[in-house]
Amino acid sequence: MPGISKNQFQESFETELAKLSERNLYRETKIHDPELINFSSNDYLGLAQRALELKVDRRGASASRITSGTYQAHKELEEFIAGWKGTEAALVFSSGYMANLGTLSVILGSKDIVFCDEYSHACILDGIRLSGARKYFYKHNDIEHLRELLEKHRNKSTKALIVTESIFSMDGDKARLVDINKLAKEYNCSLYIDEAHGTGVLGSNGAGLVEELSDQGAIQKSDVLVQMGTFSKAIGLEGGYIAGCKTLIEFLKNKSRSFIYSTAISPLLSGLILEHLTTVRYQPELRASLNAKIALFKSQIEGLDYSNENTAIFAIHMPTVEAALMATAELKKQGYLVIAIRPPTVPSPRLRVCINANHRDEDIENLAELLKAVRV
Ligand SMILES: Cc1ncc(COP(=O)(O)O)c(C=O)c1O
Repeated sequence: MPGISKNQFQESFETELAKLSERNLYRETKIHDPELINFSSNDYLGLAQRALELKVDRRGASASRITSGTYQAHKELEEFIAGWKGTEAALVFSSGYMANLGTLSVILGSKDIVFCDEYSHACILDGIRLSGARKYFYKHNDIEHLRELLEKHRNKSTKALIVTESIFSMDGDKARLVDINKLAKEYNCSLYIDEAHGTGVLGSNGAGLVEELSDQGAIQKSDVLVQMGTFSKAIGLEGGYIAGCKTLIEFLKNKSRSFIYSTAISPLLSGLILEHLTTVRYQPELRASLNAKIALFKSQIEGLDYSNENTAIFAIHMPTVEAALMATAELKKQGYLVIAIRPPTVPSPRLRVCINANHRDEDIENLAELLKAVRV
């Protein structure tokens, strides 16, 4: 199959970076000496510098990471993420949305092609759209359709990427990553995995589906060019990350507009994220308890028409939009908040039930009973 390998993909980043270095345009995320009087900060009222009884440098970053907004807390967080994900490096963005937008839009260009699951999140689609790359959507999790598209279109460009979420946010199913990875190798494509809903939930350390499959020896972490994730779901805070090889991360620091032209996430938040990630990584009992609740809910909803693959997200399919809305209203009366998700966000109406580790067993059982009643 013609095309370029993952190494050549990475080499293309190196070539670009060398050109920037030659022209003194190489950007860095340096930590500045705190003794300097900072004339680069946008902290007009000085509020960001108020002391706080937390192990963080300061409250607000007050500038972009590439000017004076990088602090020790960012570095510690990014080092932790890289170690946890098993990659050379990582980069933190202000949200998962910004991470996808700012990455896809620059690692792809108008001469490149991308194959993407049709159920992909809006920020994946926006990032691809911004890149100008030629895009082909394969039917949700349909490996045969992906193969057909690859067979037909892969030779239209040297650089090609396959993009998928690891857990699909509206259906709670998992990407067929082992098969997708095989196809990526066969057709010389690189992989981009959005772990927004896998982060904290899957894998021995909670690093996501890529970790879960590499724990099983089914894929290697190094098979994946880009692992993206967010701190806004299981991590319980906000912010997004990209993990991958050093050249990818350097490339993003230099090219990614949502990273360069946006104020860094605050050192305060970075410190909190690190604390939460440490909990997630070293307290697997949290995941065990979530999995027990998921199993309980699943055992109680037999007979209902639902999608789920042992993740915390259940899509309870509803016959009509009206039925979904009425069910939400009825469940609310009974004290449960279960939102109806409707087209165009999803192709068919459903109730989206998300289980968490703190749910009481009796509430899970009650909800299951109520769902059966509203669904008939
Ligand atoms: C699959 C997926 N990717 C990315 C995002 C964006 O993450 P964030 O909320 O941190 O911007 C979301 C959020 O809903 C998501 O579901």
